[in-house]
Amino acid sequence: MNRPDITHTEERAPVVEMRSIRKTFLDVVANRDVDFALYEGEICALLGENGAGKTTLMNILFGYYAADGGEIRIGGEKVSLSSPRDAIARRVGMVHQHFTLVPSQTVLENTVVGSGGGFFLDMGKARRKLLELQNRFGLHVDPDAPVWTLPIGGQQKVEILKALYRNARILILDEPTAVLAPLETKELFATLRALAAEGCSVVFISHKLYEVMEIADRVVVLSKGSVVAERATRDTNERELANLMVGRELEERRHAGSKNLGDPALEIRSLSIKNDKGLEAVKELSLAIRSGEILGMAGVSGNGQRELAEALFGLRVPDGGDVLLGGEPLPPGRPKASVDRKMARIPEDRMTTGLLLELTVEENLVLENHASFRSLGMLDHAAIGRHADGLIDEFGIKTDGRRAVARTLSGGNLQKIILARELSASPRAVVAAQPTRGLDVGAIEYVHKRILEARGSGAAILLISEDLDEIFLLADRIAVMYEGRIMGVAERDEASREQVGLWMSGVSEPCA
Ligand SMILES: Nc1ncnc2c1ncn2[C@@H]1O[C@H](COP(=O)(O)OP(=O)(O)O)[C@@H](O)[C@H]1O
Ligand SMILES: [Mg+2]
Repeated sequence: MNRPDITHTEERAPVVEMRSIRKTFLDVVANRDVDFALYEGEICALLGENGAGKTTLMNILFGYYAADGGEIRIGGEKVSLSSPRDAIARRVGMVHQHFTLVPSQTVLENTVVGSGGGFFLDMGKARRKLLELQNRFGLHVDPDAPVWTLPIGGQQKVEILKALYRNARILILDEPTAVLAPLETKELFATLRALAAEGCSVVFISHKLYEVMEIADRVVVLSKGSVVAERATRDTNERELANLMVGRELEERRHAGSKNLGDPALEIRSLSIKNDKGLEAVKELSLAIRSGEILGMAGVSGNGQRELAEALFGLRVPDGGDVLLGGEPLPPGRPKASVDRKMARIPEDRMTTGLLLELTVEENLVLENHASFRSLGMLDHAAIGRHADGLIDEFGIKTDGRRAVARTLSGGNLQKIILARELSASPRAVVAAQPTRGLDVGAIEYVHKRILEARGSGAAILLISEDLDEIFLLADRIAVMYEGRIMGVAERDEASREQVGLWMSGVSEPCA
């Protein structure tokens, strides 16, 4: 095995030292002899693409998984962590990607639960301690609010408070910014800096390079279960980290703008849509996307994007307004009409709306398109087979053949089935909702390439994505959706990340 590329070494004694950590799940090696050290008062980023082994390594430090081999020292002492309780006793805290709060209980109740004291817990004292922590670290949430009433950012604060309430000195955050709006991320970073200033050590897991550069003192890069590099952030840059992370040169960060802009092909006029709870999710939204153009719709999830995509797909009937495809209105609530009028649909929820997992790869490739393989009332199975084999080959779908059940494929390959089905029909418009969510870097690049090809063939593309990197990489024009409305629109070369971030947070004033 190659030795990790380390340009940075510390003289101090680490507060945490993990040596030769090994962990295998069935036949997947999640951690392969990993050495990892954490120092007092630092913010250390753990960087790596999906599946690199970051969460596993930290779950081992949190006592959530037992390692198959290796040893852990905390404060110089060899420890055995057989449950999170042991880790908490060693003053390790972890905020997982999926929160573990009790929604019906208040912030205070969630903070103190299981922290000891039991029946005799003095709630007045607990409240004072909570308020003191809130002030010290800028974690302001109403102690008496039931957790379900808080936005995700607020719930995350409760998770952090919970760890600090248990006197954590080592705090692990697993992709904490994935669920945050830019302003919330700023607040989180202020909290992390305050923690480090008091001598706490923070492990910040992320795959977002600009965030790592902004917040971390040191970066440890994991790839395929091994540490491949370590850097002090002041000695590196985004480009180098990207290369270390994926092990090869990434393509130029931003793709060239469209060269063949045509007439508006997908128009949305004053569209209003209610969500499942009967609340207005989309409010008189209007947009026009030209053929050969990618409009990137940025925004934090939950601001009406899902309802918008569902209405465009014909899965949801709007309360008002029109959608025009090639100048003609699309009848509302008729999925078949969107397909027939050549709208490619890449749904957010590919497991439940994009695919039928119990059917074969082949069947999924012709879903809603059987008609074109029918002659004299009969399905032409040979033609379907040839069509499927062609797409499997062209889109590089890794499968045991067209007859394999879709459920057996990986997430990236399932997404390729959708792309193959939707993009191979020369679409006039493409509506792609979170098309790369959950995919690894290689699969993401592939999806991007196919979307750019569709643009090159003259499709009007609405790219709805929470991933700002993706929006900035692909879009010709960027719009931001916030609380059902468009907060702002900018041309690709005039859009700054900061401005878009402000719009995403609901701030409408232009940047000074
Ligand atoms: N509980 C588990 N069971 C089986 N495989 C797992 C489990 N947890 C993680 N893995 C596998 O281990 C590898 C590393 O996963 P993980 O640590 O979650 O990576 P990261 O957090 O860097 O995305 C992946 O291939 C993943 O599928
Ligand atoms: Mg992870």
